[in-house]
Amino acid sequence: MKKKRIGILTAGGDCPGINAAIRGVGKTAIVKYGMEVIGINNGFSGLVDMETYEMKEELLSGILTLGGTILGTSRLKPFKPDAITNEVDKPQIIKENYDKLGLDALVCIGGNGTQKTAQLLSEEGLNIVGIPKTIDNDVWGTDVTFGFDSAIGIAGEAIDRLHTTANSHKRVMVIEVMGHHAGWIALYSGLASGGDVILLPELKYNLDVVAETLIDRSNRGKQYSIVVVGEGIKKPKKKSAAAYISKEILERTGLETRDTILGYIQRGGSPSPQDRILATRYGAHAADLINEGKFGTMVSLENDRITSVPLSKVGGKLRLLTPDHYLIKQAQAMGVCFGTSDGCKRKK
Ligand code: F6P
Repeated sequence: MKKKRIGILTAGGDCPGINAAIRGVGKTAIVKYGMEVIGINNGFSGLVDMETYEMKEELLSGILTLGGTILGTSRLKPFKPDAITNEVDKPQIIKENYDKLGLDALVCIGGNGTQKTAQLLSEEGLNIVGIPKTIDNDVWGTDVTFGFDSAIGIAGEAIDRLHTTANSHKRVMVIEVMGHHAGWIALYSGLASGGDVILLPELKYNLDVVAETLIDRSNRGKQYSIVVVGEGIKKPKKKSAAAYISKEILERTGLETRDTILGYIQRGGSPSPQDRILATRYGAHAADLINEGKFGTMVSLENDRITSVPLSKVGGKLRLLTPDHYLIKQAQAMGVCFGTSDGCKRKK
């Protein structure tokens, strides 16, 4: 019987754990099902340009703990209008190359944009299985994405370090973390590292409330404060969230402030043990879904159970925080300020 051939690509921003997922898919496909695995370099653009090679089992060894993606990535969105012209029709090229490569299925490892493209390719008749990844944790249809746990570990450690220098200099430290439109990294790293004020893109904040909270802390003898802000909070264009909030705090309180943008450090390096395990479970399940012929799906986690959801339900949606999230409520009850007018009151 002809061996099944599967392709794997990684698209969008990288994150810790992608190689663990590639290994999970590849090893399960080869060892459990006797499939052939084709690696496609640089996301969807590698499928357009036929940058492919066979991934033998040896190539999947030694990558579990490695950051980034051995396949490389790109942000090409083949269904964007500028990718479909009279001269070049990228979705059509992808379909032809999928056939030329003799693929029986394609695994697309990526965030929201990638899952949307995966859905559209599935509607074009390709056999697709998606695997959600991103530090932002904002993919709809799964409880968590790998990359997130590593990112909050890195951000948490950075904030811990800012505590000691803030304490020495009696300053307000403003730390900007990634997450795009989602505040998951800000909320989790802020709580894990004792942030006094946490500003989330999903929650409307009031700078006067933030200023009052910081003055009140100072009046209660707290010599320094930690303010964690998600990069996607509402702010003037052309300014970083950290620089904006820091300046506003200084102007409103007179307290000395400093700002730090953590940036791409949050996306680099080795995945946390939890992300290695999650990525491995996702990868293995993707191979199982291919074996069962369950295409047009994305692997997902529901109450710590690995399952899958239809790509048609995932594409084009974001999983964002809501103001009633239990961690926000719990933090508010302990005096953490989210800048909302209702959440910073202390019982006198
Ligand atoms: O989606 C992951 C992420 O790191 C976001 O947190 C951030 O806004 C964005 O990617 C940065 O993207 P780029 O790699 O294009 O600079």
